[in-house]
Amino acid sequence: MRLHGYTAFLLGLFFMLGIGWFVFPLALYETMEQPLQFSHQTHTGEKGGMSCEDCHGFREDGSFCGIPRLESCTGCHSEPQGTSVAEKSLVENYVSKNREIPWLVYSRQPENVYFSHIQHVKLAEIDCERCHGPHGKSGSLPPYQRNRISGYSRNIWGQSISGIPSAPWDGMKMDDCEACHAEHRVGSSCLGCHK
Ligand code: HEC
Ligand code: HEC
Ligand code: HEC
Ligand code: HEC
Ligand code: HEC
Repeated sequence: MRLHGYTAFLLGLFFMLGIGWFVFPLALYETMEQPLQFSHQTHTGEKGGMSCEDCHGFREDGSFCGIPRLESCTGCHSEPQGTSVAEKSLVENYVSKNREIPWLVYSRQPENVYFSHIQHVKLAEIDCERCHGPHGKSGSLPPYQRNRISGYSRNIWGQSISGIPSAPWDGMKMDDCEACHAEHRVGSSCLGCHK
């Protein structure tokens, strides 16, 4: 009888842990599709030949362009380059209407965080991959996952539920910024990272 109760307890425990582990994230994150399927693979590397800075460069004042505006695309895409559905949508919905593409930004930090690319990319010479993973080589875009409680992108917390990173770029929480700063002996104050 006692053994039976124990087994039932364990089964129940694992069942509840399972719910916590697999169902909770499903409930916590709302999934949103990008407005358009963009492939970095087609444009960069051996195939496309463009460099990251062709689209994600720095302005003269040192600020980072971020995601390119439509004007970076129209030079090539006013004439069809191929027959894909994504390109058809690009031309019909954006280029011909001169409408910006409302990209969802996976790595977007909360409003009160200050982050400067030039400091990290130029001064510290850190690769894009260290913080963004292989996104610059990706062939398609994963759905954007929005945390229903905080409203932030899942990329801030990271894919792992426990918060323990599965790769160096998995998660960009305050702790993750600070861990790398400690490694490089960068002293930063609250107001260095917050505005
Ligand atoms: C033809 C222009 C173009 C080139 C060249 C390009 N990108 Fe992009 N990049 C984009 C566009 C458009 C987006 C928005 C869609 C998306 O998320 O992929 C983007 C988004 C990104 C993002 C996602 C940012 C976020 O948090 O949502 C990263 C990271 C990125 N690019 C890295 C790179 C790297 C690294 C390279 C060089 C290997 C590169 N890109 C070259 C156009 C370009
Ligand atoms: C230097 C020229 C050039 C620029 C600039 C450029 N593209 Fe492209 N793009 C291409 C070529 C070439 C293809 C491949 C066409 C094919 O073979 O289907 C392509 C394909 C695409 C496709 C079709 C699906 C895919 O990715 O294979 C989309 C969508 C697209 N580009 C979006 C963009 C966006 C958005 C921008 C601006 C951020 C941009 N492109 C800038 C040349 C360019
Ligand atoms: C030290 C880490 C780090 C490195 C290195 C880095 N990024 Fe970022 N990137 C971030 C963070 C953090 C954000 C979010 C910034 C914010 O929301 O204010 C971001 C945002 C972006 C965005 C979206 C900008 C927007 O529109 O909000 C793009 C595109 C991007 N990075 C591309 C790149 C590329 C390309 C490189 C390499 C040249 C690179 N990043 C190197 C951490 C990094
Ligand atoms: C190295 C950069 C960095 C430093 C230094 C830093 N923060 Fe942050 N902080 C962040 C980032 C990035 C976030 C947003 C991501 C997150 O919530 O972890 C954040 C989030 C927060 C939040 C919101 C927490 C939450 O979970 O919503 C508070 C409060 C905060 N920081 C306070 C502080 C205080 C107080 C200090 C000084 C003792 C400090 N921070 C120093 C980068 C930093
Ligand atoms: C992969 C390592 C790495 C990550 C991740 C990283 N940083 Fe940094 N950061 C550096 C290094 C290295 C420097 C020093 C750059 C220099 O001046 O040479 C720096 C400098 C800074 C500075 C200037 C500090 C000062 O006092 O001069 C700020 C602000 C900053 N980072 C904010 C952030 C925030 C916010 C995040 C997270 C969203 C972050 N960093 C993530 C490596 C990193």
